[in-house]
Amino acid sequence: MHLTKEEERTLNGEYGETLQKAIEILVALGDIYGADSLIPIKSAQIAGVSYKTIGDAGLEWISDLSGKVKVPAILNPAGMDLKRWQDMGVSPKFAKKQHEIIKAYEKLGVNTKCTCTPYYLEGFTARYGDHLAWSESSAVSYANSVIGARTNREGGPSALSAALIGKTANYGYHLDENRKPTVSVTVECELSGSNYGALGYLAGMTVGNRVPLFFLKNEPCGDELKALGAAMAASGAVALYHVDKVTPEARKTVFEHPDENIVIEESQIREVYENRKDAMSCENEIIALGCPHCSSDELARIARLLKGKTVKKEMWVCTSREVADSYPHLVSTIEKSGAMVVCDTCMVVSPASENYKLMMVDSGKALTYVPSMCRLEAKFGSIEDCIKEAGDSNKG
Ligand code: F3S
Repeated sequence: MHLTKEEERTLNGEYGETLQKAIEILVALGDIYGADSLIPIKSAQIAGVSYKTIGDAGLEWISDLSGKVKVPAILNPAGMDLKRWQDMGVSPKFAKKQHEIIKAYEKLGVNTKCTCTPYYLEGFTARYGDHLAWSESSAVSYANSVIGARTNREGGPSALSAALIGKTANYGYHLDENRKPTVSVTVECELSGSNYGALGYLAGMTVGNRVPLFFLKNEPCGDELKALGAAMAASGAVALYHVDKVTPEARKTVFEHPDENIVIEESQIREVYENRKDAMSCENEIIALGCPHCSSDELARIARLLKGKTVKKEMWVCTSREVADSYPHLVSTIEKSGAMVVCDTCMVVSPASENYKLMMVDSGKALTYVPSMCRLEAKFGSIEDCIKEAGDSNKG
C-alpha cells in the first residue's frame, strides 16, 4: 500500500504511540484487503461502547490511548440510558464501568451521543459520495444505500483508528467495482411499515453478504429503507443494497441485472409475523420499539398511537438523546402512557433486557439479535400490534 511521507512518519512512531497503533491497524487492514492507499474520511462512528460487549479488556484498550480524533466521531449505543439507567434496571456496578468507557472516549474528543442513527445528527449527516468509517451495521447500510456515501463495516478499533488518523484504507465499498448489485430480489406484494423489517429479515438470510438490487411494487420512505437495511445486515451481512429507481445509486446508474433473482411472496412476509406464536403466552414480557433508533417521524407516530392510552406492560421506545431532546412534547406524550423513552442505548446492547423472558419488537434486526445476544425470546409485529400488546395484560 502506498503511504505518504507523513503517514510513514506516523507509522514509524514519530507522532506518538497512539497514532502509531492506529495507523498500524489501518495499514494491516489495507494490506489484507489489497488497498492502494489511505483516503480521507468525513466522519467515524464507533461501535464497541456497551460494557456488555467490550468488558474490561475493551475499557483498558481505550483508556490507554491518548490524543484527539481528527474528524467528527460519534459513539454507537451504550449499555444503558446514561441518565436514567436505574429506571431501566441496570446495576450500579455495570453503570460505573459504562460511565468509565464513555469518559475514556470523551477524552479522545469523541462525541458521546450514543446512537446507531448518527445521520439524524448535525455533523454526521453524510452526503452522496462521502467516504466514512462507520461501524454499526444498520448505520453502515443506511450510509451506503440510502445516502450513497461509502463505508465498510468497520470494527470498533478500526473506526476509532480511522477517526484518530482522519483516514481509512481504500478497499471494499469505497471502490466503484464493489458497489454493483450481484443478486436481484423481486418482491411480489405491496409493503408498508414493519413489512420492510420482515422483508429484510427474510432477504438477509438468502443474500448473505452480496449486494442486492430490489424490485419493489411501491416506493418506501427513508424509515422503511432504514428498517430493511438494518434487518438484512443482521440476518445476513448486507452492507449495501439498491432499490430500483429509489436509492441514489440506482437512480443515477443503469445497473446490469444480476443473473440470480430471488422472489419473495406475501405469504413469506406474513410468516415472519406468525412464526413465534408459541411465545404469545409469556407473562414477563417487554415491548421494545426503536431498532434502529427512532427518527422524529417515528417518534411522532408512536406518540400519536399512544396518546390517551395507558400501557400495562414494560415498554421502551429507543432513540438518540439528540432526537428526544429536540421533541420534548413527543417524549412527554409517550411517557404519559407509561412507556419509557430510552436514550443512548437499545434493547440489544443493554443487559437490562435480560430481566425479561420475552420481547415484542417491530424490527427485523431486533428479531434476529434479541434471542442470540440477550437470550430471550422475541416475536414480531407492527408498531400497532406492539402497542396493542403493551396494553393487553398486566405487567409481568
Ligand atoms: Fe441500533 Fe441497537 Fe438496533 S444499536 S440498530 S437499536 S440493535
